[in-house]
Amino acid sequence: MPIPVPLPRIERFERLGYGMFIHWGLYAQLGQGEWVQHLRKIPMDEYVKLKESFTAQDFDARRIAATARASGMKYITLTSRHHDGFSLYDTRGLSDHDAPHSAAGRDLAAEFVDGCRAEGILPFFYHTTLDWYQPSFHSDFDAYLDYLHKSVEVLCTHYGELGGLWFDGNWSKPDADWKLDRLYGLIRRLQPEAMIINNTGLGAKGETGHPQIDSVTFEQGRPTPMNREGMEKYVAAEMCQTMNRHWGIGAEDFNYQSPGDVIENLCACRKVGANYLLNVGPTAQGRIPDYEAATLRRAGEWIGAHEKLIYEGRLSAVTGNGADFALELDGKLYLFIHQLSAGGDAHVTVGAAGAGPRAFRGLESAVSGVRWVDNQEELAFTHASGLLCIDATGYPYGVDRVVRVAEVDLSPLTLGNR
Ligand code: GLC
Repeated sequence: MPIPVPLPRIERFERLGYGMFIHWGLYAQLGQGEWVQHLRKIPMDEYVKLKESFTAQDFDARRIAATARASGMKYITLTSRHHDGFSLYDTRGLSDHDAPHSAAGRDLAAEFVDGCRAEGILPFFYHTTLDWYQPSFHSDFDAYLDYLHKSVEVLCTHYGELGGLWFDGNWSKPDADWKLDRLYGLIRRLQPEAMIINNTGLGAKGETGHPQIDSVTFEQGRPTPMNREGMEKYVAAEMCQTMNRHWGIGAEDFNYQSPGDVIENLCACRKVGANYLLNVGPTAQGRIPDYEAATLRRAGEWIGAHEKLIYEGRLSAVTGNGADFALELDGKLYLFIHQLSAGGDAHVTVGAAGAGPRAFRGLESAVSGVRWVDNQEELAFTHASGLLCIDATGYPYGVDRVVRVAEVDLSPLTLGNR
């Protein structure tokens, strides 16, 4: 069965590879995650008072975009409105539950798109579809959908060309008629090149839905390979993930990913051709916490050593064992080797296992050389009957790159893509 060819916007999205998710809103002031209003049953008339102290005084969109760029991220998806119904954008009269009616008195989404563009980052908007603030969400769903669709129209009209719209919340009313044709038709009319994504939630990872959807989501999970054979349309895949256990900032959440975890997760996504959308939870007034920015920048240094490969490397028919995998780029094959040992001797090094042979199957073209990308060390190899076996030497003392990449010279190129 044939695999459909991706539309240009979908291909462009896949090449972005790695993005920053930002969960920020009134809830950040409480520092207990973005669901705090609902889960702690804070009455809405009390919760809305947070608008009076939401100054956004530390929100510097350009600086955030610069952090993303320095960390190897190519796009940012910002919560323009989350489930508490509060909009970071100027709803232009649709509601006063928005940033211009808060102490900030500014259109923070406008600042966001400008900051992104100044740094060469593609802006995306997350938008909730469920709403704890609007009574019509429960009492008059048709009226609510009018409000929701007009809200999205505002985003599609006043913020220039968007990378995409990322919806979340249809899982709250699985049997409702969300009038998706109308919503997606509106986006296609106003933002023809925008990706349309609708989060299928924790329970339905990787599920496709409406034909206008351009990417499936893997919320908080390792993405699985997509079988696109016989699909009507080529859809991309994106895994979104928290750096800790919450999307919105959690003052008492210490359970963080390390730079090494981020590298491994990014690799796990690229292994199956999925994008990685990694979340930060800015502080009450809009700064990315230092420890989050530092983790991202550190992982970004690793990406910087393999840049083109991470974004543009294509899936290969060649397969490794365990987490090891291969990508193809510009006529070469690249092997991603995991859990390699650290160098040294028994006095300084623990866990010295892991160096030695690594096998890859399905390589038909002839191999003329294999070397580590980071230090150009040539590696011994054998190659017979499609089986490539390399002698993966351990890291030199002082080095541990978490995932180490070997470059394979091929002649002639007969690799099968996707
Ligand atoms: C979930 C949560 C939400 C978060 C989203 C991100 O659906 O409800 O808080 O924004 O996941 O993927």
